[in-house]
Amino acid sequence: MNQDAKHTVRVWDLPTRLFHWALVVLIIFLVITGLRGGDAMVWHFRFGYCVLSLLLFRILWGLVGGRWSRFTSFIYAPATVVAYLKGVGNPEDSVGHNPLGAGSVLAMLFFLLAQVGTGLFADDDISNSGPLAKFASNARVSLLTAYHKNYGKYILLLLVVLHIGAILYYLFKKKENLISAMVKGDKQLVHPVESARDNAASRFTALALFAGCAGAVAAMVKWAG
Ligand code: HEM
Ligand code: HEM
Repeated sequence: MNQDAKHTVRVWDLPTRLFHWALVVLIIFLVITGLRGGDAMVWHFRFGYCVLSLLLFRILWGLVGGRWSRFTSFIYAPATVVAYLKGVGNPEDSVGHNPLGAGSVLAMLFFLLAQVGTGLFADDDISNSGPLAKFASNARVSLLTAYHKNYGKYILLLLVVLHIGAILYYLFKKKENLISAMVKGDKQLVHPVESARDNAASRFTALALFAGCAGAVAAMVKWAG
């Protein structure tokens, strides 16, 4: 942490932090249940629906959530990324997801959606098929299952390894602990910047949004029968 740091800024609101750590736990269980197969697939599907609900929530929260969780604060123009890499970027760019980290965050969200999306159409040719598989041709189901089992799985693994590697690089090489802000919410910063809104009303809004997303996923699964 910077010795001159003076300003305590709420960067990650509680909903974003809960989203993150719930996602981490669910992905671990999804990999275990997916690789085990058999009876564990019931749980693979359930955890998958939870991840889908979380991702839908995160998309909405990227539009209406706390200042630093919004997409507008971490979708950067290429010139900003270049300036950041040259070390001449705007200090505000390092408050939330910095221009480099933002790319990996967006990639993870995209490929997680792809993994869940293909999972919904996947079929293991034994007894487990995603709820939407019956609506697609056999050829398409095979293709989507192959993506889910092979490319998607490895792309996600690579992104997660890079993600954790980058966090550890910041921790040990740059002496910057990004993890504590994802746990406690705050960063100590040299420059005063706006804190993310994180009060009872915003947390209740997040809960209502998440309940709506989970309800929509449950309705989709029920509809698909
Ligand atoms: C399955 C494993 C993981 C996945 C899929 C994952 C995914 C993500 C995603 C999607 C974000 C963006 C958060 C948002 O804006 O909503 C993020 C940020 C973050 N994650 Fe993870 N994560 C994983 C594991 C971890 C672990 C093990 C740690 C701690 C060692 C960690 C630490 C962080 C931190 C510190 C940030 C904020 C980075 C920043 O300041 O820009 N993550 N992660
Ligand atoms: C981010 C969420 C998900 C992750 C990380 C994930 C991961 C995995 C993994 C690692 C496997 C094992 C692949 C192998 O055998 O090597 C697997 C298999 C499978 N997953 Fe997922 N999955 C996710 C979501 C889903 C969802 C939402 C569904 C359906 C509702 C689903 C349905 C399936 C099926 C049917 C298989 C078996 C495929 C086969 O053996 O032919 N998955 N998944």
